[in-house]
Amino acid sequence: MRSLLLYFSLFLLATKQSLISSEQFEVDGKVLELNESNIDTAISTFDHIFIDFYAPWCGHCKRLSPELDKAAPILAGLKNPVIIAKVNVDKYKSLIKKHEIDGFPTLKIFIHGVPTEYYGPRKYDQLVQYLKKFAAPDVAILNSDPGVTEFVKEAGTGFPVFIGFDVKESMISNLAIKYKKKAWFSVAKDVSEELMSLYDFDKAPAIVALRPSYSEQSIFYGPFEDKFLEDFVKQNLLPLVVPINKDTLRVLKDEDRKIVLTIVEDEASDNSRDLTKLLKAAASANRDLIFGYVGVKQFEDFVESFEVHKKTQLPKMIVWDGDEEYLSVNGSEWIHGDDQGSQITRFLAGYREGNVIQKRISGLSFTSFVSSFFGIGTVCMIIFMVGMLALILIFTKDDEPTTDGPRQSPPGTSNVSQSESGRDKED
Ligand SMILES: *[C@@H]1O[C@H](CO)[C@@H](O)[C@H](O)[C@H]1NC(C)=O
Ligand SMILES: *[C@@H]1O[C@H](CO)[C@@H](O)[C@H](O)[C@H]1NC(C)=O
Repeated sequence: MRSLLLYFSLFLLATKQSLISSEQFEVDGKVLELNESNIDTAISTFDHIFIDFYAPWCGHCKRLSPELDKAAPILAGLKNPVIIAKVNVDKYKSLIKKHEIDGFPTLKIFIHGVPTEYYGPRKYDQLVQYLKKFAAPDVAILNSDPGVTEFVKEAGTGFPVFIGFDVKESMISNLAIKYKKKAWFSVAKDVSEELMSLYDFDKAPAIVALRPSYSEQSIFYGPFEDKFLEDFVKQNLLPLVVPINKDTLRVLKDEDRKIVLTIVEDEASDNSRDLTKLLKAAASANRDLIFGYVGVKQFEDFVESFEVHKKTQLPKMIVWDGDEEYLSVNGSEWIHGDDQGSQITRFLAGYREGNVIQKRISGLSFTSFVSSFFGIGTVCMIIFMVGMLALILIFTKDDEPTTDGPRQSPPGTSNVSQSESGRDKED
């Protein structure tokens, strides 16, 4: 009888909870507009709520708004729903201090009430991918074949997927937390023959790494020690041969391996595709290096930094440190003709023997483009500061900032936050 009563009161409590959320906030896939008096309730009501702290006059906020409108219904429909909300902190100024708003927009995801600032991409499709990851458990526990299949499907193609078959959750949970923003992690028990043949491994424990957007996978059979596990995870965050673009440059930024860069005329040509196959083979035999390729046609600004001009013979291979220095291998700059495979081998042998010529990236262009991709903010900040200085010089008085920095400072805040205003905190 007592337990029945307990159940009944638990039931009442549960109903009351859901009544609160449905009464106070209409969850219909639209962006919730919050205010000073209901924001706390919203944060405590929803397990996952993403809040855009905006100001109506800020250009970046205006551009973000339609992206949020598109993301909201998708995120509301997930198994772990994420509610999208916004609040006009220009109107509700008390929230600026309370939520430590230092620029517009400030984006925060509250997971069970705990805030994390969001610096990720703001296009709706990428935003959905990122928030989906934030809301998911660090390590998903999969108990059946369909569970595995569904997990892989649900993860989509935005990030690599790691599945530990007959691997203890505790073995990978630290890595799962460390790399949460970059990959999905899961463990599966009771491995079936079907799964083994589907994912192409022949014994357990094993970790399968999938890179769905590149149709690639690799398998790890041990040793199950932190260092080896982490190396495996790091090596599998990227495809065997990385197409260099703004997104992958962002991931490469965190890499300490050197990058073997192959510069081609056009990534999409048949020749380049054949060459990529050879590079993949080389990459799997040289996991201490990253292999990347880039087309002049696709990314000319980038390629120009490596002394590639109209007359340069392509494909050209170099070893780049990911920063301002790179190496040419003496006598192996140009990978041409029929036997590109052995030329790649010769290039790598020359590199390993140290038969190299050290070079620096040319011109100013590189610095500005590194800034533009790695920290858009730096450039914007300089422009913003120069602009401010000009205004001050002309009018010798303060003006309201009207520049379109990635984030704008709330008016009337200190100089410290003003200088932060241009910093785009993209991750
Ligand atoms: C906040 O929003 C709720 C729901 O729209 C509304 O009922 C309430 O009056 C608003 N409060 C303030 C202070 O604007
Ligand atoms: C490149 O190799 C050639 C012949 O193998 C050699 O004569 C030359 O000195 C080398 N150049 C550099 C810069 O190492």
